[in-house]
Amino acid sequence: MIENDNTYPQKILDGKVFVNVAKSNEIVEKKGYRFIFYDDLDFQIAIFRINGSLFCINNICPHRHQDRLFEGIINDDLTVTCPLHFWTYSLLTGRNVNQKQGIRQLDVYKIFEEDGLVWVEKPLYQPPKWRIHNEKE
Ligand code: FES
Repeated sequence: MIENDNTYPQKILDGKVFVNVAKSNEIVEKKGYRFIFYDDLDFQIAIFRINGSLFCINNICPHRHQDRLFEGIINDDLTVTCPLHFWTYSLLTGRNVNQKQGIRQLDVYKIFEEDGLVWVEKPLYQPPKWRIHNEKE
């Protein structure tokens, strides 16, 4: 499994770019995995398998911009709880289940398996606003 590489194999389906990040048998039940793009810690996804189905979200928690969601608690209601301060997000929508905590949500990406490979929609690069601000100075 490649965890940090610029050379994920790619293919285009319905006008969207998908990248092959792993083999199917490398993503086991109820364990999170992270994949980093272009060696950039602001550009990460997390993948989970629950009851055989795969889910893919942005790995960076909107609470404190920490990249630990892949180590989160996987819940039976298809949510994942950040291990740092326990904000919980839907794996289907990316929404925080407690909107009183915050309305910022995670990006959710399409993911599928084909011929023993896991393909995920290539995520959009969305560096945090504070980083863009600092790079301009
Ligand atoms: S960093 Fe995830 S809940 Fe605080």
